[in-house]
Amino acid sequence: MHKVIYDTDPGVDDAMALLFLHRHPEIDLIGITTVFGNASVETTTRNALFLKREWDIPAPVAKGASVTIDAARAEREWPAMVHGDNGLGNIEVPHTIDLPLDSRPAHRFIIDTVRANPGEVRLVAVGRMTNLAMALKEDPEIAGLVKDVVIMGGNFYVPGNVSPVAEANIHGDPEAADIVMTAPWKVVVIGLDVTSITTMSRSYLGAMAAKGDGAVKLLDGLSQHYIDFYTHAVDDGMMVHDSCAAVYVVAPELFTTITGAVRVVCGGIADGQTVVKPDGRRFPPGDWDGLPSQIVATGIESQKVLELIRDTLLRA
Ligand code: BDR
Ligand code: CA
Repeated sequence: MHKVIYDTDPGVDDAMALLFLHRHPEIDLIGITTVFGNASVETTTRNALFLKREWDIPAPVAKGASVTIDAARAEREWPAMVHGDNGLGNIEVPHTIDLPLDSRPAHRFIIDTVRANPGEVRLVAVGRMTNLAMALKEDPEIAGLVKDVVIMGGNFYVPGNVSPVAEANIHGDPEAADIVMTAPWKVVVIGLDVTSITTMSRSYLGAMAAKGDGAVKLLDGLSQHYIDFYTHAVDDGMMVHDSCAAVYVVAPELFTTITGAVRVVCGGIADGQTVVKPDGRRFPPGDWDGLPSQIVATGIESQKVLELIRDTLLRA
């Protein structure tokens, strides 16, 4: 069993990945931590509680960061055109959900849970990296105690999605992402190189909903606004970014990867750009030297990934 803490900013594609993690038989979802990003942390936390209630997910929810790790960074607008004003595609969601939150802030929940399960926890992080960076700052030893960190974020040999060079989760808190990439733990970076070519059509999701239970029907409903947004880039479908990271947990063989030290540009016109120094390539001394070698996804078997998502979501 893979023990997973899911760090997320639901978020439409976050919701699909949550249902995948909940339903996959080899995954034990032991916690959900929220972060700002696709909406405010109040909204993403409310959405996590809403999905927990609707999908009957036992994992506790801990509320996380509401600002970047460098508090001096200017706040940006929420991406309502992508995820809707309420982060879940503008479907009807109650203002508040009558479920308790974990009493700890997300980064503390992560530290305590990792320490209680040494060597076992897999952190799947699909929003800004703020909670993970805060956990590392408060308790650097956890780097040696997690099994691995699988993130959705970044782009290496393809353009970004919020600037020509930067992807949203990294661009939303570049300093936090640089802390996470350079810490002495194993990070698997699932970025736009693989997620932007992994697209699910409206009809594929619709066919899943027709076959599936209420949970899949809810997912279909909340995804419609997001699919409409993606018409500029996808032929009547959507990129399933966050689910690609969730799939890696159980099916790494569906990805091709390279290894190398990863840095994040902090500031300037390339703010939030992720740059890998591939192992084995020689350069003069520089800012990638002496850092841990991380795993960067460069290829994906998209069709098989979609099928695994479908088959997992249809296991009720
Ligand atoms: C990432 O940004 C968010 O909009 C999505 O949920 C995903 O995690 C894609 O760049
Ligand atoms: Ca996300």
